[in-house]
Amino acid sequence: MKVAVIGTGYVGLVTGACLAESGNTVTCVDIDREKIEKLNQGILPIYERGLAEIVHHNVEQKRLHFTTSLADGVRDALIIMLALPTPPGEDGSADLQYVLKVADDLGPLLQHYTVIVNKSTVPVGTADLVRQRIAAKTQVEFDVVSNPEFLREGLAVEDFLKPERVVVGTRSEKARKIMAQLYGPFTRQGNPILFMDERSSELTKYAANAFLAAKITFMNEVANLCERLGADVDMVRLGIGTDSRIGKRFLFAGIGYGGSCFPKDVQALAHTSREAGYDFRILAAVETVNRQQRTVLARRVIEFFGGSVKGRKLALWGLAFKPHTDDIREAPALYNIDLLLEHGALIAVHDPEAMDERKEKIRQPVALCRKPLSGPCRCRGPAYCHRVARIPKPRLQANDGTTQKQAHF
Ligand SMILES: NC(=O)c1ccc[n+]([C@@H]2O[C@H](COP(=O)([O-])OP(=O)(O)OC[C@H]3O[C@@H](n4cnc5c(N)ncnc54)[C@H](O)[C@@H]3O)[C@@H](O)[C@H]2O)c1
Repeated sequence: MKVAVIGTGYVGLVTGACLAESGNTVTCVDIDREKIEKLNQGILPIYERGLAEIVHHNVEQKRLHFTTSLADGVRDALIIMLALPTPPGEDGSADLQYVLKVADDLGPLLQHYTVIVNKSTVPVGTADLVRQRIAAKTQVEFDVVSNPEFLREGLAVEDFLKPERVVVGTRSEKARKIMAQLYGPFTRQGNPILFMDERSSELTKYAANAFLAAKITFMNEVANLCERLGADVDMVRLGIGTDSRIGKRFLFAGIGYGGSCFPKDVQALAHTSREAGYDFRILAAVETVNRQQRTVLARRVIEFFGGSVKGRKLALWGLAFKPHTDDIREAPALYNIDLLLEHGALIAVHDPEAMDERKEKIRQPVALCRKPLSGPCRCRGPAYCHRVARIPKPRLQANDGTTQKQAHF
């Protein structure tokens, strides 16, 4: 089948590459020229295990293409997948401007029956909204389907190729058959495609993320209590995780959840609930606890040093919000760094994946070290550190009260 994927980020690139891998002809579209240029040169904009191999293989086979032109990308496509950002607006609601802009642009481009599949995480009712926007600008028959994405960064390729389930929201029999065919190669082992209406599908994604965020938060609260009571949270984890009703996963206590999904999706679901006149109290508690929890590490460190880390050189391992990804969006590490810097610490950071492509997004004045144990600066080559030094706000307060250039120790 001919597929267009609009938005070539974490979800779009993985989706496009995996759909090409199963034999479809896929064009990934993005407005980010640099991203598309790099992809056309074989350079991936993100790190995700196994993705580079699949991208390169399918480009070679001429099944995977990249373009900045929406018109070229969707030409002849039977399926158009939207993998566009839905960042939080000021009131916590999901900002639909990217999705609706593409919906507006798509209308005049449709030339034959097309299934428009929304993979972005969007509030309930968005499929209807997208349908209206497209219908306003075309006479061509089309369907809008909700197909939320459940891949986990760090395991995204594996998750896409072997999903635990695929959720498809559509009331159109024609679209349903096409979606069943599209996902056939990924669900042959028996993992289900769950068909439902669009609204249930849209809500399923938020409910899943909010539930997982709540599970993490619950265990963090248990850990905080364990410390006060002299209990071992790891033992409690094993004790409850072996109960099949609870399950083993998402029970490790830590510094809160982060990333590009949980924080915004919990907020967005709370907003949707408020708009529907329902006070979803658990969500408010989850957000409040997580906000506290994500700086617990920095607070411990400050406490350990008797309340002051001024002038202390601290090493911090791990920038990304979880292992095996380079995604630092809403990473708890950044909040810990902020707090430690506020208290006058000098910080050297190492992350095996999150320091290259995305280093320009790290706004804090920290030394980025290529090696976890580099100690006094042994970053390989001053060129690297020089680039780091150009990150905004590169001045640190030194021990003696004067400012010094980029931390480079
Ligand atoms: N990242 C995840 O793990 C994950 C998992 C499940 C669902 N989601 C959801 O999927 C959606 C996409 O997330 P992501 O992490 O891939 O985002 P991303 O920011 O990595 O990628 C989005 C891409 O869309 C592009 N874009 C913006 N406007 C465009 C336009 N008009 N035309 C073409 N491209 C455009 C951007 O340049 C960017 O490359 C979000 O709704 C997110 O909540 C993300």
